[in-house]
Amino acid sequence: MRSICVMNQKGGVGKTTTSVNLAAGLAKLGRRVCLIDLDPQGHASLHMGVDAFGQTPTVYDVFSGKKTLADVKQLAVDNLWVVPSDLDLAATEVELADTPGREMILRGAIDRLCQQQPLDYIVMDCPPSLGVLTINALTAAKEVFIPLQPHFLALQGLSKLFETTALVKRRLNRDLSVSGIVLCLYETSTRLAADITDDLMHFLEQSDPRAPWKNARIFDSRIRRNIKLAEAPSFGQSIFDYAPKSPGAVDYAALITEVVAAEVAAAPPVAPATTDTVAA
Ligand SMILES: Nc1ncnc2c1ncn2[C@@H]1O[C@H](COP(=O)(O)OP(=O)(O)OP(=O)(O)O)[C@@H](O)[C@H]1O
Ligand SMILES: [Mg+2]
Repeated sequence: MRSICVMNQKGGVGKTTTSVNLAAGLAKLGRRVCLIDLDPQGHASLHMGVDAFGQTPTVYDVFSGKKTLADVKQLAVDNLWVVPSDLDLAATEVELADTPGREMILRGAIDRLCQQQPLDYIVMDCPPSLGVLTINALTAAKEVFIPLQPHFLALQGLSKLFETTALVKRRLNRDLSVSGIVLCLYETSTRLAADITDDLMHFLEQSDPRAPWKNARIFDSRIRRNIKLAEAPSFGQSIFDYAPKSPGAVDYAALITEVVAAEVAAAPPVAPATTDTVAA
């Protein structure tokens, strides 16, 4: 099983859009996927049309020890389960402040889920912060995907993000590595995005060879700015159901092809899975 933490403490860079469409595209390829919404904003849940209002149990109940992930997950579409979140989750930071081992709660919960249900992928959508929820995701994951919007402040904060990842790797999760940077909201009509991408490559090349992010790559697929990606959440659908022929679907399908290509290096999938690309 591959476990992917989609993180960037910067807001609005495409974390949720990437988490949801990555999870949904992998599910369309026959992979069994669980998408865990770790943001109190609950955007990933809403994007997949999953109800997290009222009495619906959420990931908050998992952090507070009242439920398991198996109790709260909901089947959203074929092969894709969503663990929803809502505003209650915002209290977790304070409520867990004195709890020993609070960074390991999600990891334990995922281990228990996997004993009950074979899965090929877990995708975790993080909030825009480096707080306890993101640390839980980093402790539970093997891979980190960093969505990044290539504009003039894009590199600001990247060092902090890498340092946090390195710290978690040292202290809590030796298996963790940064798989790659996903360039989102990419503007093809100006030089700026291409220039920032060059700066980013330079930054990675210049890093200390012992830095844990030294092997991080920039995924070849660029996720262009596309209005259909912004519209899809209000219909509670992934881009592959909402606008399968749109540039947004084409770009995320290309990213998924890259992700699936790396399966050979990772553990073989549990499910008898296809290797075709997502129909776009
Ligand atoms: N490639 C794109 N083209 C057009 N709109 C996009 C694209 N990617 C994301 N968006 C839109 O940009 C906004 C921010 O994206 P998203 O919610 O994925 O970012 P985020 O990093 O999860 O934000 P937050 O930090 O608040 O969790 C959303 O309205 C989303 O629909
Ligand atoms: Mg988000």
